[in-house]
Amino acid sequence: MDTIRVFAPATVANVAAGFDILGFAVNAPGDEVTVRKTDSEQVVMSSITGDNGKLPTDPQKNTATIVIIKLLEHLGIQQGFEIELKKQMPLGSGMGSSAASAVAAVYAANQLLDTPLSPMELLPFAMEGERAACGAAHADNVGPSLLGGFVLIRSYDPLDVVTIPTPESLYCTLLHPQIEVLTDDARKILRKHILLKDAITQWGNVAGLMAGLIMSDYELIGRSMHDVIIEPVRSLLIPGYDEIKQAAIDAGALGCSISGSGPSLFALSTSEELANSAGEAMQNACSQNDIESELYISPINKQGPKILD
Ligand code: HSE
Repeated sequence: MDTIRVFAPATVANVAAGFDILGFAVNAPGDEVTVRKTDSEQVVMSSITGDNGKLPTDPQKNTATIVIIKLLEHLGIQQGFEIELKKQMPLGSGMGSSAASAVAAVYAANQLLDTPLSPMELLPFAMEGERAACGAAHADNVGPSLLGGFVLIRSYDPLDVVTIPTPESLYCTLLHPQIEVLTDDARKILRKHILLKDAITQWGNVAGLMAGLIMSDYELIGRSMHDVIIEPVRSLLIPGYDEIKQAAIDAGALGCSISGSGPSLFALSTSEELANSAGEAMQNACSQNDIESELYISPINKQGPKILD
């Protein structure tokens, strides 16, 4: 096999209280790559569509190429690849756009090399894509995009990643207000020190969310979707944030918070119907500030990357 086309899903990082340590994947949107083996020894980005010309084509700077370069270096293989990247989600949206490109590319290249590494072993290479995109090799987007479902980063050093069971009827609503927030900027504004009382609240909520997911206790999941450290700062970048969140909860969602570094918001609900109602309410609330938005409703994606052909 010399050519492969792979889709990798968007992701919701942080999931309220789990800044940098928790994320889950959704079925849509996501990015698509076509990766081809070539006779040269270069990794080349041959085309990017859907990015309005915003992404770098320099192989050392693009998330989809750098991950393949790092993978080849690790394996000690000299092999040329040509990559076509089809962006199918907005950049700077907080839905793991750079992660989906990195995951699709590294997964595709690994397949063309006859699968020397498992998805879990590919994770450090996908993280290098995040380093190129925003300066921080966080794993809470690439982890779930690569492994599917809910993924916990128990530790970064050493890297210790755990997949968490996904309750059957959980649905995600993603609202993308059409403004751009760059992850790099959304990280720089965060406070570097936190109060012990806030830390106690936060780790109570992270642990509660983990327990809720494992026990399929939807009430506990809802009660645990509170972030007292990151949301108060980042929500200031999202016009009408409090109203949009309240609208989701009033429509029956278990909880609602910022997706990754924003500006997208996500809500979790116990059925597709409630997820749709939450989405409609969130979109209405968002439009009060004259901001257009895109809406995505999806079950939790348990598969991760998908080979298209
Ligand atoms: N955990 C990262 C952050 C995710 O919140 O900055 C970025 O999508």
